[in-house]
Amino acid sequence: MVTPTTESGAARPSPHSPLFVLTRQLPPPAMEMFEAAGRVRVLESRADPATSLWEAAGDATVICTQLTDVVDRGFFQHAGPQLRAVCNYAAGYDNIDIPAATDHGILVTNTPDVLTTATADCTMGLILAAARRLCEGDAVMRAGRFPGWSPTYMLGADLDGATLALIGYGRIARAVAIRALAFGMRIVYVNTGSDVDEAPDAERVDFAEALHRADVLSIHTPLSSRTRHLIGAAELGTMKPTAIVVNTARGPIIDESALVTALRAGTIAAAGLDVYESEPDLTPGLAECPNVVLSPHLGSATRGTRAAMARVCATNAVAAAEGRMPPNAVNLTTR
Ligand code: GLV
Ligand code: GLV
Repeated sequence: MVTPTTESGAARPSPHSPLFVLTRQLPPPAMEMFEAAGRVRVLESRADPATSLWEAAGDATVICTQLTDVVDRGFFQHAGPQLRAVCNYAAGYDNIDIPAATDHGILVTNTPDVLTTATADCTMGLILAAARRLCEGDAVMRAGRFPGWSPTYMLGADLDGATLALIGYGRIARAVAIRALAFGMRIVYVNTGSDVDEAPDAERVDFAEALHRADVLSIHTPLSSRTRHLIGAAELGTMKPTAIVVNTARGPIIDESALVTALRAGTIAAAGLDVYESEPDLTPGLAECPNVVLSPHLGSATRGTRAAMARVCATNAVAAAEGRMPPNAVNLTTR
C-alpha cells in the first residue's frame, strides 16, 4: 500500500500541474525545484516495492527513483498515460528496464558526472585500505591485540610501480587513473563498451591480459546481462595470488561466492568492496574474511555530491514535466 507522506505545492494547487512522485525525499535543492514546478508526493514505506511503485505512478507526471527501486516492464505497463519520465537518483540505471521504458515512450534519466570524483576517491580509499590492510589493523587496535612494531608485522602491498587494471574506462575509471598515477601506479584498461578511445598514460589491453597483469583490478562498468558475474571463479583463478580486487560499480558484476572462496584460499590477496551482489546482504563467509574491506555503498556519499545529484535529478525531472528533453536522458534521444 502506498503511503503518501507529503503532498505539497500549495502555490500551484491546480490538479493539472505536473505531479512529481519521489520514492525518497531528496536533498536540497531538489524539493524546492519540484515545488516551484508543480506538486510533489514523497512515498514512505512500501511493503511490496514493485507493486506499490505501479500504484504510486498511477497519476505521476515524473517519478524520481533510487537505485534500490526496481522499475521493470510491469511498472511501465501499469503506469498512467500521463507519465513522462523516470528520473533515477544515480549514475547507474541497471534498476530500470530501459527497453521497456523506450517501448512505452517514457524517458529515463540519470545523474552522471557530478559523482565522478567522489566515487573515484572512494575507489582509491578501498585500494589503499586493502593494499595496506588498514581495516584489519584498525580491528587489531580496537581489540587491544597490537603486539608492538616489528619489521615483518602486517605487511601489505606497494602501490608504486604496481599495475592497476581498470575494467571499463568511462568517467569514473579515468578519474581513478588520474589518482592512481599520482601514486606511481601503471594503468591498463579494458574498454567494455562506449568508453574513450585512447588515453595518455594508460594501455588498452584485452580482458584476459588485464586479469593476468593486475596487481589491483578495479571495476568501472555498468551492470548488464553481459557484465553479470564478469569476475567469477575462472577469472579469479587466472589472477596473481598477490592481486587485489576492488568494486565500486555494481555488486553482481562479481560472483561473490567465488570471491569468498578465493579470499579464503589465498588465490587472490585481498578485496575492497563498496557494492554487493545481494545488497544490503553479504554472501556468507565474506564478513569473516580479514582480507576484505567492506564499505556500505558510499561511492557518491559526500554532502556536496549528493546535493549536486539532487539538482541534476530535479533538473531532469522538471525538464521532462515541461515537455523539454532532459539533459541526462539515457533513452529516446536521437544520439
Ligand atoms: C551509485 O551507485 C550510482 O550509480 O549513482
Ligand atoms: C559511469 O557512470 C561513469 O561515469 O563512468
